[in-house]
Amino acid sequence: MADLAAAWTRLQAAAQAAGDKRIVEMFDAEPGRLAALTLDVAGLHLDLSKQAWDEAGLEAALDLAHAADVEGARARMLGGAAINGSEGRAVLHTALRAPAGADIKAQGVPVMAQVEAVRQRMKAFTQAVRSGQIKGATGKPFKAILHIGIGGSDLGPRLLWDALRPVKPEIDLRFIANVDGAEFLLTTADLDPEQTLVIVVSKTFTTQETLSNAGAARAWLAQALGEAGAGQHLAAISTALDKTAAFGIADDRVFGFWDWVGGRYSLWSSVSLSVAVACGWDAFQGFLDGAAAMDAHFAAAPLDKNAPVLLALAQIFNRNGLDRRARSVVPYAHRLRRLAAFLQQLEMESNGKSVGPDGRPVQHATATVVFGDEGTNVQHAYFQCMHQGTDITPMELIGLAQSDEGPAGMHEKLLSNLLAQAEALMVGRPEAEVRAELVAKGIDEAQIATLAPQRAFAGNRPSTLLLLERLTPQTFGALIALYEHKTFVEGVIWGVNSFDQWGVELGKVMAGRILPELESGAVGQHDPSTAALIGRLKV
Ligand code: F6P
Repeated sequence: MADLAAAWTRLQAAAQAAGDKRIVEMFDAEPGRLAALTLDVAGLHLDLSKQAWDEAGLEAALDLAHAADVEGARARMLGGAAINGSEGRAVLHTALRAPAGADIKAQGVPVMAQVEAVRQRMKAFTQAVRSGQIKGATGKPFKAILHIGIGGSDLGPRLLWDALRPVKPEIDLRFIANVDGAEFLLTTADLDPEQTLVIVVSKTFTTQETLSNAGAARAWLAQALGEAGAGQHLAAISTALDKTAAFGIADDRVFGFWDWVGGRYSLWSSVSLSVAVACGWDAFQGFLDGAAAMDAHFAAAPLDKNAPVLLALAQIFNRNGLDRRARSVVPYAHRLRRLAAFLQQLEMESNGKSVGPDGRPVQHATATVVFGDEGTNVQHAYFQCMHQGTDITPMELIGLAQSDEGPAGMHEKLLSNLLAQAEALMVGRPEAEVRAELVAKGIDEAQIATLAPQRAFAGNRPSTLLLLERLTPQTFGALIALYEHKTFVEGVIWGVNSFDQWGVELGKVMAGRILPELESGAVGQHDPSTAALIGRLKV
């Protein structure tokens, strides 16, 4: 423990010292910088050399990782120990992408036989729906899937579909998450119930939003096909098989997974069945294989050459050493445009905690706010603030080294923007240079005095650059696994349990109390503002 406290102190001192330097000058001062801070793993190229750490900063961050026993924690997670202490569960999403014969145990119990059995059922179902062998109630093949789920039962599959979807899919895939009738209406309006398969996805099968939408979907099917017919258009994914049965979904249409898979880590399981059906099994298997390649790297690489560890340490350096409270993730790839939304749940639900597993307050700040959207679009929205705002927000810029999708010439333009932003954030533009340009244009001195500071860029804003060789099922799987392990490493160093989410409960309980009050008009005990609002909104 003493070692850990000392390592934290050293990290903070090193970050303060590095923070006084200019990143761009570190390249001259440290000839090995680029080589030490770039890495190629599983079809991904990671460049952390534009981060704010210098050699001593990186060393201090690695010392901290050793002091926090990241290696031991990694072994415990991969070995199936009950590291999710508050729920007494192992954490084994890695088993979901492991090869069939792997020796993986959850708290001593082998899991691969059941993982493989569900995988084989998913594969058979995928092929049967795609070939038209499994049909709708009126004998027509399925042409669309309606995937109903929220949070971890939605964000991953949605991103996966965007990443892998064929340009002209044979089977369309739609998602409904929110308990908002408008979403249901807009998503189903042009769907034909006769040719639509509804897949209800909920780990717990208790989630209000999902069960409301599932009920609405069943009624929508039954109206067109009758109650018995509707059953042939329903499937469910859950760990709560008693509840799927109670909902009336036939056992052979239910695909399970296990309590050692967290919701936000579940896209490798039957949770993504809809995507497997709509994209085909080979694509889904490729996605699993890519993640397995990243798992093998994470498990074996030394910390200073370990991509998830280095990515996590850059975050720790920024968060805890330099007090950066947010991070922006910007994929320069339309197919990855929902990545930040996925990472918001992955990182903020995993590590947005103030108390450790021992119930004591954490000693260091934990998860930052993550936000972002598609580049270049966001350059025309919030990048002004990234370049010249008073807060410094570390950026993660992601691109595809190669892409031949769409009209010729566009990809190069996209890449030029990606590289330019990373460079501009780091080098900035000195006021003297702006001044000289304005003088050359013949602008008068009084105007230059006000204009030059507004047009100058301080620079020295850190970013990470991540390139996928190409967007394939494999590289996409590796990318998501990279972020999962990064999140895990951060949780270990911050000393939180990354695999529970008690912070989502209170709002759910209170919504359950308010709903009957809205319906009956009998307002219960609330603060004055909430009571007034219930009075105003009661039906
Ligand atoms: O409210 C948060 C949460 O519990 C997430 O952790 C989870 O991914 C989501 O709700 C959906 O839960 P379920 O899959 O059980 O419907």
